[in-house]
Amino acid sequence: MAAIEQIKVGFDNFSYIIFCPIIKKAAIVDPGYDVSKTLRFISSNNFEIEYIIITHYHIDHSSETKRVKNLYPLAKIVASNICETKLDMKVEINVSDGYCLKLGEVSLNFILTPGHTPDGICIIVDNESLITGDTLFIGDCGRTDLSGGDLVQMFRTLNEKIMSLPDHLIVYPGHDYGNKPFDNLGNQKLTNKTLLAKNLDDFSKI
Ligand SMILES: [Fe+2]
Repeated sequence: MAAIEQIKVGFDNFSYIIFCPIIKKAAIVDPGYDVSKTLRFISSNNFEIEYIIITHYHIDHSSETKRVKNLYPLAKIVASNICETKLDMKVEINVSDGYCLKLGEVSLNFILTPGHTPDGICIIVDNESLITGDTLFIGDCGRTDLSGGDLVQMFRTLNEKIMSLPDHLIVYPGHDYGNKPFDNLGNQKLTNKTLLAKNLDDFSKI
């Protein structure tokens, strides 16, 4: 029922529009760099923006939040509560692990996925898609050596949360770092070196 538009922004970032084609409601995920292309898609389809979702506070995922909010003041900013301290904007819907939102007929289920940053979240859309921000890329995972990164947390997130999700989900990452822009999770479980690591020691050597 949901549809997802993957939009390349900046050098290799992906921003997303999740939309319900029936009632024309949309959510923007990660308005970083220049959100103009995303906004054109929204206005040309006459979508009403209900949510602005930030997968984590890094500027390449969040820098245009204020611009979108100013244009669409009724849109609610959605992020984990840890994100607010870094965003310099009020987070209006703080998501916790398992939190669920509706976008028209579309279900958005949130998972807390710390590791790249403490505030990282992933979004399961209609039990069909998994928007992963900088938690999981195609063939890799997000860095843990930047400020706020935690290798042990990332290993736990990948092993205890991502690996337990169903194989049919389509992974939509926060950057175009892989050999394809998206992939199903089952294939990533078999090929992604960071998901293949059996223990923390192996993971730390990648
Ligand atoms: Fe990041």
